[in-house]
Amino acid sequence: MQVIFSKSVAGRRGVTVAASDVPTSINLNPALLREEGPDLPEVSELDVVRHYTQLSRLNFAIDTTFYPLGSCTMKYNPKVAERIAAYPGFAHLHPLLPQLRLGGSLTQGALQVLHEMDLLLREITGMAGFTLQPMAGAHGELTGIMIMAAYHRERGNRKTTVLIPDTAHGTNPASAAIAGYAVRAIPSGADGCMDLARLREALDDEVAGLMLTCPNTLGVFNTHIREVCELIHGVDGLVYYDGANLNAILGKARPGDMGFDIVHLNLHKSFGTPHGGGGPGAGPVGVVSRLLEFLPVSLVVKREDGTYALEYDRPRSIGYIAPFYGNFAIVLRAYVYILMQGRKGLPRVAENAVLNANYVLARLRDVFPPAVDRTCMHECVLTAQNQFRDHGIRALDIAKGLIDRGFHPPTVYFPTTVHEAMMVEPTETESKETLDAFIVAMRELADLAAQDSDAIRKCPQTTPVGRLDETRAARDLNIACTPLCGCGG
Ligand SMILES: Cc1ncc(COP(=O)(O)O)c(C=O)c1O
Repeated sequence: MQVIFSKSVAGRRGVTVAASDVPTSINLNPALLREEGPDLPEVSELDVVRHYTQLSRLNFAIDTTFYPLGSCTMKYNPKVAERIAAYPGFAHLHPLLPQLRLGGSLTQGALQVLHEMDLLLREITGMAGFTLQPMAGAHGELTGIMIMAAYHRERGNRKTTVLIPDTAHGTNPASAAIAGYAVRAIPSGADGCMDLARLREALDDEVAGLMLTCPNTLGVFNTHIREVCELIHGVDGLVYYDGANLNAILGKARPGDMGFDIVHLNLHKSFGTPHGGGGPGAGPVGVVSRLLEFLPVSLVVKREDGTYALEYDRPRSIGYIAPFYGNFAIVLRAYVYILMQGRKGLPRVAENAVLNANYVLARLRDVFPPAVDRTCMHECVLTAQNQFRDHGIRALDIAKGLIDRGFHPPTVYFPTTVHEAMMVEPTETESKETLDAFIVAMRELADLAAQDSDAIRKCPQTTPVGRLDETRAARDLNIACTPLCGCGG
């Protein structure tokens, strides 16, 4: 695939604007004027349209293909939510409207959405209140741990350490470390859950809290949650619920009822909102009532006269964590999704997500042994072990083979505690036919591994760029810019 610059022909134009025949009203300093035109490709409109349309066709996207990326979950984004987010009354709302701060009439609809979303998330999770500002799951984690730190500061506690199971998403230890805590990893047992005996050993007065993902990244629900929460509370620690996988228990169980104190949700994973390339996302954080005072400023409040306003007078708040009110349009899409599903629909999201993952697990467990051989929740972790290792085939090869068969690969090599991991999350929206086609492709690759492993190692062949030489890329690192970049590096 060529870059657009290589299609440039001197003098070719996409759009030509007639020369101005009225005097210019702005007198620019001549010293600031360009002497030469900008170094842009000279192409026709058709060149541009074709170039970018062809590029977009090379993308794997949830709108074009099955995308079973476990843990990083690409969920289908219902188009009705997109349409509502595009309503001019929402889309054209400028965050600098002074009324936003004063709760004036131009922003009442948006404030109402935020307030009602707070109430919905309280109901769904069992927490006492939410901030909707964090702009991704990881940002929610940092916010939550800052709240944890504020709580301990307020109580005069000298706490240094956050405990995290070894299967956690990498953002958990990163967030705790950025918030100033040392991180201690707790190993998991054979059942895929955090080892309770090892947790007990790690407990002391220095423990600020525990970050727990439930179901965890192995797709396993921790059945000792209440005991875990009691143990952490016993040392005046707080229990943090990484709710990225809440879609597995939506409408079925609530972290607030299990004993968690702080929760973050990934709206893109639980409620079908976009989350590409790290953003824009939304990772709302909910807390129990004793932590409400620490939530970031501002909070949306409903006044006695029924209007809405942003409340800034929060002396114990951890302060500002995002510009304006976070990614409002993402929160809005999730709000639409929740209302669309309703009280009856949300549990069905969980049921279908779990059913789909177990269907894939049941149909593939004989060829790709699961990391934990038990019923899974919303995702399953399969492995390319045993016979694959004998043929020199790894999880990476299976992933590349899937690309040629029209599927986005599952997440590979995560959780890091599992050898040759392939983490499959089908989500609730996929049909049996799609899952069957994926299963057929996976089984075909398993057969091919035994018969002609070289054929898999040559994949992908349907993409403009094939396999990179990973060893060379690591040993002979070349991070110089191309001449087209123009930075001179
Ligand atoms: C379990 C878990 N926690 C946290 C995160 C971080 O979320 P985000 O990518 O929105 O920062 C993820 C990623 O999706 C996750 O799977």
